[in-house]
Amino acid sequence: MGAPGPRRAMKIALLGGTGRTGRHVLDRALGAGHDVVALTRAGTALPDRTGLETVSGDARDAVTLRQLVVGTDAVASALGPRGRDAGLQTAVARAVVDAMATADVRRFVGVSVAYGPSGRPQGPPRQTHRRPRAHDRTRRRRGPAR
Ligand SMILES: NC(=O)c1ccc[n+]([C@@H]2O[C@H](COP(=O)([O-])OP(=O)(O)OC[C@H]3O[C@@H](n4cnc5c(N)ncnc54)[C@H](OP(=O)(O)O)[C@@H]3O)[C@@H](O)[C@H]2O)c1
Repeated sequence: MGAPGPRRAMKIALLGGTGRTGRHVLDRALGAGHDVVALTRAGTALPDRTGLETVSGDARDAVTLRQLVVGTDAVASALGPRGRDAGLQTAVARAVVDAMATADVRRFVGVSVAYGPSGRPQGPPRQTHRRPRAHDRTRRRRGPAR
C-alpha cells in the first residue's frame, strides 16, 4: 500500500451558513480548500468569496434542496429555527434525506438540538424552588435532625 496522497477538496452543500454556527462552518470549509454551495434566503445574502456559490430559497422546499445538493460530495447543516419553529428540523431532515438520496450524496454532518416528544428542546431537568416551610426554619435554628 502506498503513502496516502493529498486529501481531495470536496464540494459541500451548507444549510444555515448565515447563522452563528454556520458562518464558522463556512469559514472552516473554505479555509480548508473546499468549495461550498450555501443556502441563503431573501435578506440574508452572503458576501462573494472564492469557492462559494449560493442557492437562494427555503430549506423546506424540495426543489431548492435538490438544487443545493446536486453535484456535491457532502451536506453540512447548521440550520436552526429563527423563533419558535420547533417543526423546522424534522421537516428539513426529511427533505434533506430525500434530496441526498435523489442526488446520490451519502455524507451528512449536522449540528442540532435534541427535541423530545413535546417538540420542545430537552434541557437539564428544571430545578424546582419552593418557599421554606415552618419546619425547615425550625431545623435550621436547631441544626440537622440526628
Ligand atoms: N448557538 C449555540 O450555542 C448552539 C448550541 C448547541 C446547538 N446549537 C444548534 O445549532 C444549530 C444552529 O444554531 P445557531 O445558533 O447557529 O442558529 P442561528 O444563528 O439562529 O442560525 C440559523 C440558521 O438557519 C437558517 N434558517 C432558519 N430557518 C430556515 C429556513 N426555513 N430555510 C433556510 N434557512 C433557514 C438561518 O437562515 P437566515 O439567516 O436566512 O435566517 C440561519 O442561517 C441549531 O440547530 C441549534 O439548536 C446551537
